[in-house]
Amino acid sequence: MAESTQIAVTHPLVLDMREDVDEIVAGLESDQKHISPKYFYDERGSELFDRICDLPEYYATRTELAVMQEHGDDLARLVGPHAQVIEFGAGCTCKIRVLLDHLIEPAVYMPVDISADYLVKQAESLASDYPDLHVHPVCADFTQPFKLPTHTVTPERNLVFFPGSTIGNFSRRQALDLLEVMAFEARHDGAALIGVDLRKDPAKLRAAYNDRAGITAQFNLNVLARLNRELGANFDLESFKHQAIYDEEKGRIEMRLVSKKPQRVTIAGREIDFAKDEYVITEYSHKYSVDEFRELARRAGFMPITAWVDDEGLFSVHFMRVQ
Ligand SMILES: C[S@@+](CC[C@H](N)C(=O)[O-])C[C@H]1O[C@@H](n2cnc3c(N)ncnc32)[C@H](O)[C@@H]1O
Repeated sequence: MAESTQIAVTHPLVLDMREDVDEIVAGLESDQKHISPKYFYDERGSELFDRICDLPEYYATRTELAVMQEHGDDLARLVGPHAQVIEFGAGCTCKIRVLLDHLIEPAVYMPVDISADYLVKQAESLASDYPDLHVHPVCADFTQPFKLPTHTVTPERNLVFFPGSTIGNFSRRQALDLLEVMAFEARHDGAALIGVDLRKDPAKLRAAYNDRAGITAQFNLNVLARLNRELGANFDLESFKHQAIYDEEKGRIEMRLVSKKPQRVTIAGREIDFAKDEYVITEYSHKYSVDEFRELARRAGFMPITAWVDDEGLFSVHFMRVQ
């Protein structure tokens, strides 16, 4: 790492599932069994997600990257120099690299992610590639209040960056709450850059979440492996299968783990029964139209400035300022 690089890690803690055990068990005991998608992301989950991004059926990552490349200079002008970029759900940091390569003398980068080990590794690699940038990874659950660290550099403006359509994992109501947090973090004069997947041909969506190589299935089932390892559960992974359906009316993909047979699973001393074909909802991925998302952003206190969309109308990248 170059000597001028500053990397400081805040809250270097791994999300401890044991602290959330009551919430997790309550979700699995509900009439409609569910678990939050945030538990997908241990180190293996983050790596599997990276493999999903490279799949031929998963158009979202390459489309978003292409849109950012194409409009990078416009984006840099809109953001302005010496920005502090706060990335929510940073993952592999591949998109921030495209952004940093266009921004004018970016000052600080704060990736916020729940997948602690992966976050720190990615931040270290980024810091060594961008020696003039102050890199400050923050391990936090962005759905809960968290404090951004203060540091010695005084950036001129904040840019909240939220790519990958992670916003789609939240209901429209929760997305509004999250956008309000982002407007608060961006502060006066700040802005946000948010990648949002668009409503489209259901066949294309179904293919993207049911890839032929079965990587999305592995990613989905990894949450059960994690429950076994971290909470001493006894899920038999062979007895569950991945399923992703598109609900056109609600405009969302619903990812499930379906029980192949009647079975009883023990988790944290509680017994949970599954009927054959009963399923756990593991993730929603809401799709928007450009106008629908703009309206949501307005309600959260943003002024939409521009939204770039690829030629096929698959994915949108929204730039907006705090009102
Ligand atoms: C869908 S991936 C997107 C990754 C990357 N931003 C991209 O565009 O490819 C979601 C990322 O958000 C992180 N994440 C999910 N829920 C989170 C939460 N509640 N708090 C913090 N990070 C979260 C995951 O660890 C993962 O890195």
